[in-house]
Amino acid sequence: MSQAMLVRGARQLLTLRGGSVPRRGAELGDLSIIENGALVVKGGRIAAVGPARRIENLAIVRGAQEVDVRGRVVMPGFVDCHTHLLYGAPRLDDFTMRLEGKDYEEIARAGGGILSTVKRLRSTSANRLKQQARRDLWRMAECGTTTVEAKTGYALDSEGEQRCLRILQSLNGDPLEVSPTFLGAHAVPPEFAGRPDAWIDHLVEEVLPAVAARKLARCVDVYCDRNAFHLAQARRYLEAARRLGFEVTMHAGQFQDVGGVALALEMGARSVDHLEHVSRASIALLARSRTAAVLLPGSVLFLGSPRFAPARALIDAGAVVALATDCNPGTSPVWNMQMAVALACTQMRMTPAEAISAATVNGAQVLGVAARTGTLEAGKQADFVVMDVADYREIGYYFGSNLAVMTVRQGRILKPPRESWHHGETAG
Ligand code: NIG
Ligand code: FE
Repeated sequence: MSQAMLVRGARQLLTLRGGSVPRRGAELGDLSIIENGALVVKGGRIAAVGPARRIENLAIVRGAQEVDVRGRVVMPGFVDCHTHLLYGAPRLDDFTMRLEGKDYEEIARAGGGILSTVKRLRSTSANRLKQQARRDLWRMAECGTTTVEAKTGYALDSEGEQRCLRILQSLNGDPLEVSPTFLGAHAVPPEFAGRPDAWIDHLVEEVLPAVAARKLARCVDVYCDRNAFHLAQARRYLEAARRLGFEVTMHAGQFQDVGGVALALEMGARSVDHLEHVSRASIALLARSRTAAVLLPGSVLFLGSPRFAPARALIDAGAVVALATDCNPGTSPVWNMQMAVALACTQMRMTPAEAISAATVNGAQVLGVAARTGTLEAGKQADFVVMDVADYREIGYYFGSNLAVMTVRQGRILKPPRESWHHGETAG
């Protein structure tokens, strides 16, 4: 049997207990904090969690490896439920063009944007792609993320998309759990230029069935917006995905609310993502559904837009809200979930507690892994992070830095504590 690990000395241990139900309304603000908490890890799982005085007296901690976090905050690992992890290279020409005043959609129409990444990625070896993605997964782990969703959508041909999905599968588990999503309807590839319906037909008739038969993805995504796929195309594609047994999700309302939310809900989507442009009626629909609103403030910041998603209205109406990085080379080159939390607080007026729930348990809910991760409860995977703060509210406050000082996934230490801790340095 593996040795147990006792994590003690947490000034605040954010358990987020409450089981694997999506958090909405006032529930988002309840982190179920244990002051002076401890937890025991055994065999990759949480064997016990609670007040230090109780946990430290349990028989199981005898002979355990001890980690004293010296007054810091211990919380569930972040669950990043929306990323475009596998992209190959940064998109620096678009970046500088935007600084000269061109906007994202203009650049995309001029052959930049998603299609420039497609061009580049198609001629990149599987090895290099894997290296890039693995490097980013470790960067995420360094920032406290333990589970990540990863979309394709930069190959846009049948073989290439399947190659990307296989790469994602091969990355699963080391160091993070990777949940693959097929995003064939991300853009119209050059071979189908001017014929979006023919590309959707091809996806429906050839690519989706191949991905399903080989079990390469669990979820299917579509970019539904002006200058992207319109409603009828999205419907045809998502209906086919559903018939094949996929979960579905949607990029909607990044530039305009073209009715994507209603369609996504009709399709039983697990989430609708972006929502910088979302009508009152769509907010009301979301509030009555189980579909999560996944907010991606990193992309708004990076595009220099003043228009963040209306998180307050969504939460106050009762919608399930989650946060993610949207890590991608075009609109959101960020892998640190702490940045999403900070932007949620400062730009969308989410409370620090709401932002943390949205970045952990609700992300896990979106990915369908909430029974295993996303909260610190006995029996769940030991997926947690130690933050170098004494009060969880500091996580949304010290924006732009990495406060994670120890990351553990399934009991494996991905980021070991710094030397200085062992010598007595405390938080706060
Ligand atoms: O979530 N807008 C669509 N998809 C991505 C951007 C992808 C890209 O620009 O490469 C997004 O923002
Ligand atoms: Fe995205």
